[in-house]
Order: sequence, then structure tokens, then C-alpha cells
Amino acid sequence: MSEVLLKAEGITQQFGGLTALNNVDFELRKNEIVGIIGPNGAGKTTFFNIITGIYPPTAGTINYKGNNITGKKTYEITSMGISRTFQNIRLFDQMTVLENVMVGTHTHTNSGFLDAVFKTPRHHKTEKYVKEKAINLLEITGLSEYRYHYSTSLPYGFQRRLEIARAMANSPEVLLFDEPAAGMNENETRNLAQFITEINAMGYTILLIEHDMRLVMRICHRIYVLDHGTLIFQGTPEEVKRDPKVIEAYLGQEVE
Ligand SMILES: Nc1ncnc2c1ncn2[C@@H]1O[C@H](COP(=O)(O)OP(=O)(O)OP(=O)(O)O)[C@@H](O)[C@H]1O
Ligand SMILES: [Mg+2]
Repeated sequence: MSEVLLKAEGITQQFGGLTALNNVDFELRKNEIVGIIGPNGAGKTTFFNIITGIYPPTAGTINYKGNNITGKKTYEITSMGISRTFQNIRLFDQMTVLENVMVGTHTHTNSGFLDAVFKTPRHHKTEKYVKEKAINLLEITGLSEYRYHYSTSLPYGFQRRLEIARAMANSPEVLLFDEPAAGMNENETRNLAQFITEINAMGYTILLIEHDMRLVMRICHRIYVLDHGTLIFQGTPEEVKRDPKVIEAYLGQEVE
């Protein structure tokens, strides 16, 4: 089995009297595509927020490549190689598609604020690198032809892709996608599945939260199931489909 990249142990998150996550253990290995599923309010996004340092957990630890990253700041975690997209699209409306990706790359370069103000050679070199990298990412995500369009003019499915391109701009090793297929039609979802499989083959390790069962079952190697903050099952798509606890949590819904 491949190396464990991300390991969560005993993660608990309390918001006042509400236990959003209860003693969750989790691991993600290099080159996996792992899904997190569960009904609304199960704690899925909260788990992403803890991994990415939006807030520290009430209890438990997160390790990334053997380093304890619990309580580290978001920018530190991003620079270590973990990048994410958000459940609600967060693009810059006043920027083009290309600029949206370039902004993502900037956090990863050495050229600082003063370099930019004084337009130093280092800044020019960085600008060129940032632009080339963004162009390359648009190529990978199939958005090249929209390079100079405003992000808001893109069809919904492409805006989600642009978010992914921007997340990839930090040169991450692990990508976390929070409901990447939300709002997509069937065709867009099918293309997304293909795309995620492709970037996984390029070497990205992927963790995704998703409500679209067909997408999850089709592309994930393993799936974690949360219900009311508790991990009720973890296994392959086939095992998840057969588990009585999972079926019950999704009462009335078809798990396939
Ligand atoms: N910052 C917060 N303060 C208080 N309560 C919160 C906060 N964030 C989340 N919660 C609560 O924690 C629970 C888990 O929320 P979370 O957003 O993680 O669920 P989810 O599984 O992502 O759901 P969905 O599928 O609807 O996105 C919910 O009851 C939510 O209202
Ligand atoms: Mg959520």
C-alpha cells in the first residue's frame, strides 16, 4: 500500500452544544481518490475546515506526511501541499479566468510585495512564470479558450473547474474538493468524473465531498460515511453500498 499522506485521529469538533464531528479517524494515502459522503449537516465541510486550518479541532490531531499540522494556519497548510475548493464558488468576479488562476499561483512564488512595487527583474521573472503556469493549468482543466473571459460569464460547470484550476495553482499534492458536482448537469458531472480521474493519474491525491452518489461510486477508491458527526462506515464503494448502517442513514435514498 502507498504512503499515508493525511492522517486524522480522534477529531472532535464542538460548536457550542453541537457536536459537529465526534472522534473521527481517517487516512488518505498517496494517489488515492477518497470520498466523504453523508446527509446534510453530517460534518463533512467541518472536516475540510479542520484539515485546512480554518479552525483547530476541539480535540484530535491531523498529521500530514508525518508532521503534526493540527492548529496550523491555512496559508501554512496550503504551502505544505494541501489545497481546496469551497462548497460555494469563490471566484473573483472582476477578474478574467486567467487572472483568477494567476492569483492562486502568487501565494507560491518568492517574489514579494516590494518586488512588485519596484517591478524588479525578479518580479518580471515571477510574473512570466506565474502566467505560464496559469496558462498550463487552464490547458489541463480545458478552459484555455475562456482565458480572457470574466469568470462570471462561464457556464456553472466551468466555474467549478476554474476553482479547481485555481486550487491546483499552489502546486499541491493533495486536493480537497467540497461538492465539486453541485449544480452541474449530468453531462458536466460525467466530464468532471473523467477530469478527476485524469488529474489523479497525473499524480494528485484527491479527497472529495459529494452528494452525487453515481460520481462518488464511480471514481472513489474508498469512501468514508459520516452521519451526525460520527463515522459510521469506511470501505470500498461496493462495501458502502451493501452496509445496512449506510442504507439507513440514507433512508429513502438509493445508494448506488
Ligand atoms: N462555524 C460554525 N458554527 C456553528 N455551527 C456550525 C459551524 N459550521 C458548521 N456548523 C454546524 O455543524 C454541523 C455540520 O456542518 P457541516 O457544514 O460540516 O455539514 P456538511 O456535512 O458539510 O453538510 P452539507 O452537506 O449540508 O454541506 C451542522 O449542524 C452545522 O450547522
Ligand atoms: Mg458541506
